[in-house]
Amino acid sequence: MNDWAKDSWRAKPRVQMPDYTDAEALRRVEEKLASYPPLVFAGEARKLKAELGKAARGEAFLLQGGDCAESFAAFSADAIRDTFKVMLQMAMVLTYGAKVPVIKVGRIAGQFAKPRSAPTEVIDGVELPSYRGDIINDLAFSAQARVPDPERMLQAYTQAAGTLNLIRAFSTGGYADVHQVHSWTLGFTAGEKAERYRAMADRISDTLDFMRAAGIRSDRSTALRTVSFYTSHEALLLEYEEALTRLDSTSGNWLAGSAHMVWIGDRTRQPDGAHVEFARGVLNPIGLKCGPTMEVDDLKRLIEKLNPENEPGRLTLISRFGAGKVGDHLPRLIRAVEEEGANVVWTCDAMHGNTIKSASGFKTRPFEAVLREVQEFFAIHKAEGTIPGGVHFEMTGADVTECTGGVRAVKEEDLSDRYHTACDPRLNASQSLELAFLVAEELSAFRTARQEQAARAG
Ligand code: PEP
Ligand code: CO
Repeated sequence: MNDWAKDSWRAKPRVQMPDYTDAEALRRVEEKLASYPPLVFAGEARKLKAELGKAARGEAFLLQGGDCAESFAAFSADAIRDTFKVMLQMAMVLTYGAKVPVIKVGRIAGQFAKPRSAPTEVIDGVELPSYRGDIINDLAFSAQARVPDPERMLQAYTQAAGTLNLIRAFSTGGYADVHQVHSWTLGFTAGEKAERYRAMADRISDTLDFMRAAGIRSDRSTALRTVSFYTSHEALLLEYEEALTRLDSTSGNWLAGSAHMVWIGDRTRQPDGAHVEFARGVLNPIGLKCGPTMEVDDLKRLIEKLNPENEPGRLTLISRFGAGKVGDHLPRLIRAVEEEGANVVWTCDAMHGNTIKSASGFKTRPFEAVLREVQEFFAIHKAEGTIPGGVHFEMTGADVTECTGGVRAVKEEDLSDRYHTACDPRLNASQSLELAFLVAEELSAFRTARQEQAARAG
């Protein structure tokens, strides 16, 4: 790509990025980051791209989830482990229920920068700049805390490196071994879905016992003993992204070294803007959030810019319209993609179109709306004859009360009990598991219908 450089975004209009006041301090941080090792390796990003290519064809399914915003204060081994456990449980429910390989991608180890709908926030008549994520400023409501500080990028890098290190250890060190399927259950998950998970885990254990008795050494199988777990975040803070971008000597292409996959947010997807400019030149799989304001012409331009070679797995379109609105928007975008003959993975972010303010003032999301958006997403792909390739959620392994509803119903008045998110409300472990069962049912029904159709046509 000869008209692209890792800093070519600097000549384009930028939105949602901080204005650092101390240019010298910023330059020092960028220099330091640029001298640090990248967090991921190009071969891993290419492997993920190949797997996403399968999801685009319906031969795999993307499960992407994690915090809305990672925080410095909540950084701990237990928090990482519990998020990892919930992702493993969800992936197992999907793999077992829909009989399809699940690509596991965390919103983790770099998900620190947040776009905001308003530049300032008013509390009790005091107006201050908005919180923009721990990599930029501090959540505390004081003028000092809200000043963007470039040094925070170094702390974010350190936290991302520590997080990724533990995830890699969990993924290959025995923790994610399918023989441990029972041990991923979190103590506080209860209810019908937790029971269903236990029953499924029993059946899996039983199968493994049978295999052993039959002489198949499942304990020696890498596929059963380890998982591939990838990282992702919104590539919002481009100074950080640029500083971690590295030339891949094998291919001569550039790698965003901050994560395996990065995405462009719904507020920063201007076709001629800085964020699209940065993303178009890196070899990683790219996500693109598509909200209700996405125009068909813009989507076509974005596809052309972000995936000019039409490489399978390069581009994931993450639709986020809100329950009740998927039918108004998804069909027109699907038809635009079909007209272009573009290879994309269609995935559903069932969180960001469903945020409401509760009577008590908490930002929340009704679990029922999250479920409904997923159902609408599947129904529309079925009607259009296209492939639902994945789902995208904000969730945590912690027992929080941030989204209302679910089998262990969180009511509006419960929100204040354990509302810990630094940004948007997340599904707790029980709600995540419940959702996974629903997605598995939808996906399984979709796949069965497609197979029957193929058999009739065949
Ligand atoms: C997010 O994923 O946290 C986010 C801000 O999403 P969107 O860009 O879709 O609003
Ligand atoms: Co969010």
